[in-house]
Amino acid sequence: MPGTQIDEYTVRRCSGDDAETIAALGARLFVQAYGPTHPEPDRSRYLAKAYSVDVIAEAIEGDGSAVFVVEDPEGAPIGYAHMISTMEIPPGMDGWRAFEIVRFYVDAAHQGRGVGAMLMNHCCNVARQTGGEVIWLQTWSQASWAIGFYLRLGFKIVGKKAFYFGERVDDDHVMALRL
Ligand SMILES: CC(C)(COP(=O)(O)OP(=O)(O)OC[C@H]1O[C@@H](n2cnc3c(N)ncnc32)[C@H](O)[C@@H]1OP(=O)(O)O)[C@@H](O)C(=O)NCCC(=O)NCCS
Repeated sequence: MPGTQIDEYTVRRCSGDDAETIAALGARLFVQAYGPTHPEPDRSRYLAKAYSVDVIAEAIEGDGSAVFVVEDPEGAPIGYAHMISTMEIPPGMDGWRAFEIVRFYVDAAHQGRGVGAMLMNHCCNVARQTGGEVIWLQTWSQASWAIGFYLRLGFKIVGKKAFYFGERVDDDHVMALRL
């Protein structure tokens, strides 16, 4: 499907050729956002598990899975979202056709310009076009910046879900948006 564009930033769906780029971008943006609160040695283990080229290639090309990348005016990748079609339904929404946003990141140097909203709109449009009725995600309960952003876009906190990082288990918020 065609990409989306605001102010010279563009969103497009990734192909297998993008796997190395997205793996590097994903690891860099995780460290940028969560490095101070998610220290070594668990961080390197998490990065190796979550952002290997093989794992990202599967995210890009797997059944019911898509990765969308945002590129800046020079064509450099500065944000991305990983979205899957899922049978896992948020509390209170049984029977709804659901999509999950597994990862959602905008480089700090480009935040506050509407890029995140553009990327989320793109995800919602793709989900809607394939019959999606709800889109949901989990976010760290300490990530006030992300929670504020999702609330602004109309998401509601509907439950909680564990996030495993080394020995640590965080109670993430589950947030959902009816499409
Ligand atoms: C969360 C994130 C994606 C937001 O991206 P962004 O490009 O800065 O967001 P936008 O500029 O598109 O903001 C869209 C709207 O949300 C609002 N918003 C953004 N952050 C907000 C916050 N913390 N509280 C309230 N509103 C917020 C903006 O003001 C804007 O509203 P407006 O249209 O009324 O002006 C970005 O901060 C990010 O990638 N953070 C690090 C990674 C991360 O934590 N990802 C989430 C993992 S679950």
